[in-house]
Amino acid sequence: MRLLTLTGNELRKKFLDFFAGKEHLVLPSYPLVPENDPTLLLIGAGMAPFKAFFTGKVNPPKTRISTCQKCVRTGDIENVGRTARHHTFFEMLGNFSFGDYFKREAIFWGWEFLTKELEMSPERLWITIHTEDDEAFDIWHKEVGIPAERIIRMADNFWEIGPGPCGPCSELYYDLGEERGCGSPDCAVGCDCDRYLEIWNLVFTQYDRDEDGNYTPLVKKNIDTGAGLERIASVLQNKPSNFETDLLFPIIEHICQVGSLQYGVNLKTDVSLKVIADHARSMAVMIGDGILPSNEGRGYVLRRILRRAVRHGRLLGISNIFLADTLDVVLKIFAEAFPELVEKRSYIQQVIRQEEERFQATLAQGLELLNREVDELKEAGKTVLEGKTAFKLYDTFGFPWELTLEILEEQQLAMDKEGFDAAMREQRERARAARGEAEIQVAIPDLSSLALSECSYEETATRGSILAMWKDGALCNAATDGDEIAIILDKTSFYAEGGGQVGDIGQLLAEIGRLEVIQTKKLPDGSSYHIAKVEEGSVKLGETVTLRPNLARKAATARNHTATHLLHAALKKVLGSHVNQAGSLVGPERLRFDFSHFSAITADELRAIENAVNAEILAATPTGILETTQSAAKEMGAMALFGEKYGETVRVVVIGDVSKELCGGTHVKNTAEIGNFKIVAESSVGSGLRRIEAFTGFGTLQYMQGQEDLLEQAAQLLKTRPSELNAKISALFEKNRELEQQIKQLEQKLAKGEVDELLQKSRTLQGLPVVLGQVAATDADHLRDIADLLKAKMGEGFLLLAAVIDDKVNFVAMATPSAIAKGAHAGKVIKEAAKAAGGGGGGKPEMAQAGGKDPSQISASLAAAWTTLEICLRD
Ligand code: GLY
Repeated sequence: MRLLTLTGNELRKKFLDFFAGKEHLVLPSYPLVPENDPTLLLIGAGMAPFKAFFTGKVNPPKTRISTCQKCVRTGDIENVGRTARHHTFFEMLGNFSFGDYFKREAIFWGWEFLTKELEMSPERLWITIHTEDDEAFDIWHKEVGIPAERIIRMADNFWEIGPGPCGPCSELYYDLGEERGCGSPDCAVGCDCDRYLEIWNLVFTQYDRDEDGNYTPLVKKNIDTGAGLERIASVLQNKPSNFETDLLFPIIEHICQVGSLQYGVNLKTDVSLKVIADHARSMAVMIGDGILPSNEGRGYVLRRILRRAVRHGRLLGISNIFLADTLDVVLKIFAEAFPELVEKRSYIQQVIRQEEERFQATLAQGLELLNREVDELKEAGKTVLEGKTAFKLYDTFGFPWELTLEILEEQQLAMDKEGFDAAMREQRERARAARGEAEIQVAIPDLSSLALSECSYEETATRGSILAMWKDGALCNAATDGDEIAIILDKTSFYAEGGGQVGDIGQLLAEIGRLEVIQTKKLPDGSSYHIAKVEEGSVKLGETVTLRPNLARKAATARNHTATHLLHAALKKVLGSHVNQAGSLVGPERLRFDFSHFSAITADELRAIENAVNAEILAATPTGILETTQSAAKEMGAMALFGEKYGETVRVVVIGDVSKELCGGTHVKNTAEIGNFKIVAESSVGSGLRRIEAFTGFGTLQYMQGQEDLLEQAAQLLKTRPSELNAKISALFEKNRELEQQIKQLEQKLAKGEVDELLQKSRTLQGLPVVLGQVAATDADHLRDIADLLKAKMGEGFLLLAAVIDDKVNFVAMATPSAIAKGAHAGKVIKEAAKAAGGGGGGKPEMAQAGGKDPSQISASLAAAWTTLEICLRD
């Protein structure tokens, strides 16, 4: 039997000291939220923070590193508490080699640590390797001396976690003894029961897997070791499961005390106790690493874990708030490994308590509904809960759908997940539609009891206290994730929409909540309010929030605003003093300026305006803000907007000698910050009103790049360079002209051939030569040209030609003077011909044109022409 017993803390330290002794750099655990890795929601293995070191994209601080990493995995959440070894949160001990040592050292050191440092009996240890890994087999067998029958080849000994570094692995199992096994004659390493416990995994990281599942060999071979701290502790402490070790059991003891329960008496009770112990650790670490409960991503993982724990408390008969109080026990366990958690104690506790209270408020009702549904399903002999009921539990009672499913599965029932998803989609659609296109409509409640005049906008403010908040038009004291609210702060650095300038957007960070500000507006008295959505956590009336306006957007808007003042001045300079601002829109993307002017602006004038503004930008003139009286402002010649109301004290934006304007907007400190100014549109927006749209800064850059791309694409189409485009297009026009001429010549040739053919078909009617026929013509002019040619060749006589053009029939008829003298009449004949083809028309005796709708009637038209001509000649 084992001699050495270590606490979890001692084991962690022993591991890290051992690898420090093998020249590893020991680093603290990375946070649970991955940095720069969109493929992972949460860190789930010791190697995850080191992916870039493994692939060689970034150089590690040392080629040997060792850590004890906080990990969260929820793939096996249903097994937590049911087996001895599954967790959502666990600590992974790891030693890593980045192109340094490889299989031999990793195997020898793993073996040395387990058998020498931890004094595990080698007879208890079993080795697995990848089916094809003869190299690992030889090291284990020939060098370490493990008997061949204790080295098992397994096809699935390949380790990977999403895209990234991966490779074959060699896992070490500890045999906990027959008494811990399932009793099956087949029970062996790899059996699902608790007898053989995987305690160490050596990954020979030699491939990089991409998103499509392709494996590329890595230039340098690496080692990634993952060893579960809780599992090894359970072996060393000779406990039947991880839950009885000092890393978890104190939490179980605490819950037993709270619920007056006994551990080890009832299987179901034990499962719930273990679930709570596991989840209590997870939630503490997740919240400590900055995650807040929400309905998306990591926040949802946390919410699910936390609410699952609340429900297991309920299963144990605990209906009070209890989870928040487990934190102190959790922190005692983690104090040595993760001291930062202890520092955040009250914050973590507050987050747990709030989420717990929120779910407790609806849990009983939700369970009642679910139990009723379960009874009804059973009575009706059905096995699947409708998706819309599951959605109601989610939406109204806050049941993560996985929790509903779990409860159903305990009753051998299932859930219609597709129906649930459909209900979720429908609700999102409804919410989107209700929200309208642009913004959430927030009705303003009665704010008369507030001292709003004391609220201020300060560009440099970093924090503000919540003076009022409301939801759907009613004041409220708190809001939680998913709520869309309006907020008034005593101080804000968010500029409120006004004077043509858009309102700021950004974030407000509450003590345990994150809000996305989607608009900042002004109340009728001029004070600002923020329209925001609580994205995570919650927010309370009176609390102080950190102000995080989107600074890049704010800066871009300020550039456009100052440029608008420069444009105003330039317009007066170039077009004349009659120019006056009539309206403007200043946003981060572009500026729009409407002004009075009575004629179109020429290209030269536009260039002059653009140049004048750019000259002021390049002059790098400092700007200044002056607060003064209205009359003083007038005296100094400051421009005021016609029809705008100003208070007695006004704010004047001064740009050197160039511009002085009354304005409440945000501006750059120096015109050089604008970068550049580019007019992109000039138009009329009413009588005597023109509009200029322009870009500055990055806006211009993007616009120019877009123009460049267009030119590039056009050049590619013409298989040339942009600088050669003009020459190439001129050459193409020239070529086109030549081709048109050639076509004309060919058409004439064709027409001549057709005319000769028609002449051969010439008939005589009462001594008059007559040609009636169908020809191919591209348009009416072409048909007329053929007729002219035919008439010239005939010398005297009558002709009528038909041609199908655009699925219709065109007719032309001509009579020479001698034919007219005999009674022929082009207009009369063509009228009857056109009628036969469903059309109409007419004309003079010598020439007429007409159209018909039905090409299939051309023969009938020609017959009608003959008969009509005959009558004309007879008369
Ligand atoms: N990266 C090795 C393991 O998680 O088992």
